[in-house]
Amino acid sequence: MQNKEYSFSFEVYDSSDELGREDADLLNRARSATQQAYAPYSLFRVGAAARLKNGEIVHGSNQENASFPAGLCAEGVVLATAASLYPGVPIDILAISYDNERGPSDKPISPCGICRQSIREFEQRTGQTIRLLLSGQKGKVYIVPKASVLLPLAFSAEDLG
Ligand code: THU
Repeated sequence: MQNKEYSFSFEVYDSSDELGREDADLLNRARSATQQAYAPYSLFRVGAAARLKNGEIVHGSNQENASFPAGLCAEGVVLATAASLYPGVPIDILAISYDNERGPSDKPISPCGICRQSIREFEQRTGQTIRLLLSGQKGKVYIVPKASVLLPLAFSAEDLG
């Protein structure tokens, strides 16, 4: 028997004031994108903004549905938008924020499991890792160096043979 361990490190900043200008701008886009969410059921508005390798920025937000599983996460919307508008272009950084009508929005959130799967495959298909910038409307900012560290032992296209 072998015991394997897994760990990763990420950066923690007290606020977005500590970020460089490009990162701070992208986070602001994600924070603003929360206002375009359609979240009448959860009242939890998520915004995401991606900076692509070609310099373009795309943003998106969660879009819910009365048939709950039909709803889309903000991250999925952004990945699909980026891949549709700029096929094959890698994403350098993905900023994710939220605005929770039922409570404070001052702590970072990280992508749900399904989004982690989608982000990881985006990294794989474009051949480049994606840096994650996570923060609420204010407060601490987490920077995860590459999204795939959030999904150890991931299922991937290679497993399909
Ligand atoms: N949501 C996202 O958009 N991204 C995540 O990573 C977590 C959850 C959305 C889904 C749903 O519309 C609302 O937030 C509450 O779960």
